[in-house]
Amino acid sequence: MSRIDTLIARMTLPEKLGQLTMTASSYTVTGPVIAGDSTQSIIDGTIGNLLNMVGPGPVHEMQRLAVEKSRLGIPLLIGLDIIHGHRTLFPIPLAEAGIFDEDLWERTAREAAREGAADGLAMTFAPMLDVSRDPRWGRTAEGPGEDSWLNARIAQAKVRGFQGNDLSSPEAMAACAKHFVAYGAVTAGREYAAVDISDRTLHEVYLPGFAAAVRAGVATLMPAFTDLNGVPMTAHIPLLRDWLRVEMGFDGVIVTDYNAIAELIKHGVAADLVDAAVLALKAGVDIDMMADAYRKGLPVALEQGRVTMEEIDTSVRRVLRLKEELGLFDDPYRRGTTQEPAALIAERHTLAREVARKSIVMLKNERDTLPLPTAAKSLCVIGPLADAHTEMKGPWWGAGEHEPAVSVLAGLRAALPQTDIRHAPGVAINSDDESGIEAAVALCDGVDAVLLCLGERASMSGEAASRATPALPGRQQALAEAVIARARALGIPVIAILFSGRPLVVPWLSEHADALLAAWFLGVEAGNAIADVLTGHASPSGRTPMSWPRVIGQIPIFFGQRPSGRPMNPADYYTSKYHDVDNTPLYDFGHGLTYGRFCYDELRVEPQRVREQDTLKISVNLRNDGAREAEETVFLFTRAKVSPVTRPLLELKGYAKLRLKPGEAGSVELSLPATDLRYLGPDLQPVFEAGQVEILVGPSAEQTGLLRQTIELS
Ligand code: NOJ
Repeated sequence: MSRIDTLIARMTLPEKLGQLTMTASSYTVTGPVIAGDSTQSIIDGTIGNLLNMVGPGPVHEMQRLAVEKSRLGIPLLIGLDIIHGHRTLFPIPLAEAGIFDEDLWERTAREAAREGAADGLAMTFAPMLDVSRDPRWGRTAEGPGEDSWLNARIAQAKVRGFQGNDLSSPEAMAACAKHFVAYGAVTAGREYAAVDISDRTLHEVYLPGFAAAVRAGVATLMPAFTDLNGVPMTAHIPLLRDWLRVEMGFDGVIVTDYNAIAELIKHGVAADLVDAAVLALKAGVDIDMMADAYRKGLPVALEQGRVTMEEIDTSVRRVLRLKEELGLFDDPYRRGTTQEPAALIAERHTLAREVARKSIVMLKNERDTLPLPTAAKSLCVIGPLADAHTEMKGPWWGAGEHEPAVSVLAGLRAALPQTDIRHAPGVAINSDDESGIEAAVALCDGVDAVLLCLGERASMSGEAASRATPALPGRQQALAEAVIARARALGIPVIAILFSGRPLVVPWLSEHADALLAAWFLGVEAGNAIADVLTGHASPSGRTPMSWPRVIGQIPIFFGQRPSGRPMNPADYYTSKYHDVDNTPLYDFGHGLTYGRFCYDELRVEPQRVREQDTLKISVNLRNDGAREAEETVFLFTRAKVSPVTRPLLELKGYAKLRLKPGEAGSVELSLPATDLRYLGPDLQPVFEAGQVEILVGPSAEQTGLLRQTIELS
């Protein structure tokens, strides 16, 4: 008999249910619900998993109780949210999505896992794989943005990064693909609200990221809090059992979200905790996080014959197997025994700065306002986010709450020690007080450029942070208007830097600022990274992974829309359009300027007649007509012309990068297996259909900037 079978044979029902329970420890970060008794319960073997602990000291102390004091000595599984870095905070996932760099996506997860593991942790609740097309939803900050292909690439890189190729390594952590599934489609962008989407959208947009994570070997998965078309995900048998377990072959651990089993009662599908526990177990949910429904409900359900001991054992086996794979049985203290050397932490900061720099999206740069002229003698840095070092860290702090972070002001002062840098916040991020505006405006006199640092508080995005009006909060618009009016009068350029966990609705600012940067929340090195770009030490290269709406009424807005039978035509009244605003976004998916100026020509596609076993070779010539070296990201889209089902106007299929010096020309090559041109037919099964497909290549999803060629599938 294997170690696990031997254990299961010896376990009592309370011990089994302990393995299916995860609770916040007495070292809880968030409010304890059933945490009070965790110490004794660990000794009793009735709590087998913990969340929200940090530090090798407390982690090993708890582990020792489980291993040395409990009857069977089963080690604990201890997990924490490590969403964008653990102690060294990296850019938020939405920002990092825009770097389009699989190696860096993987490396930040790897470094976060090493830091988390050095803190004794073996599991993280990441990556977050919720595609979202709605900037009202605050959790856009944690995810990949609007596109499912991009999401799938990130999913694989993140799973590789967190888990490495050996889960038992003292530097590896079990990843958790979350939140399964379609959480990003909550009604009207309102947190925790219902989700209602078609089967086609589910399969085309929301499932591929999870399929990719499963193929990459993700160890665990978390169902979303939400319901999908009437069935709460924590109890969703067709998706959790039939799709995930049976069709995808996922045999890892499913862990609920916080208190989600108990919330089945509020969803209205369970009368009490017993009902709720039965529903979750039947759906294949293994670990109950914070609801205490399994410990309270399953003994009753078992007695009533509503669940079987085999069903309980199946889940216990999965949990024990994960602990075994993590090497916890062989050495429960393997993580967190050695302190990380200072040099390693310094290297991690270098990585954080590189990724932060590459995450910055230059949305606008009129008349080459940026980079700042080297001759600039004085600058004015205005706005409530100019000296806001804590805000730079973004909405999930992991264990980095007390880590220092670099503000824009500090970063600029370090980069430009000879420059006179003045500062005034003008207004607070989210208050009605305009009394500081005048003083801020007065500071602009005589400077060479004004930097306006505006946006959200970090806590205005992330969980439970929906905003019906995702625009500049408080009186920041008034500040911007006053500063820009004064700067205009003085003939001084204004560079606006926006901090947010989502695209903001800022049409006025976009029109009136000379340059506009999306700086999201860039982590501990934010200010240094921003200074790198402002001063021209680095050319910006980030691309927005979400479309920026012109007005709130355009939401949801995304490039992968399906065509209308009456496409927009300004000359024809009865076409798909608004009376009061354009259909297009303010900034398209993939948009992001550099300090170069790239011209595209000669799109070549081989072969022109394509069979399913072929691989397309696509290339395009680029020339940098700008005055500075820069790196361009080139996107590859497709559009099926005629098919039995309506296909999106654009489907992302790849990207490539090319760095060119001023005046230099080069070409990028993309290869596309023809199997990637399959799509889901009328019955949602993948088909490769004969017919015409358009290949489109260019700098973003903006239609007029794409080169195109039609090929024939046969
Ligand atoms: C609730 C969040 O929805 C989830 O993403 C997170 O992993 C858990 N809380 C645990 O902190």
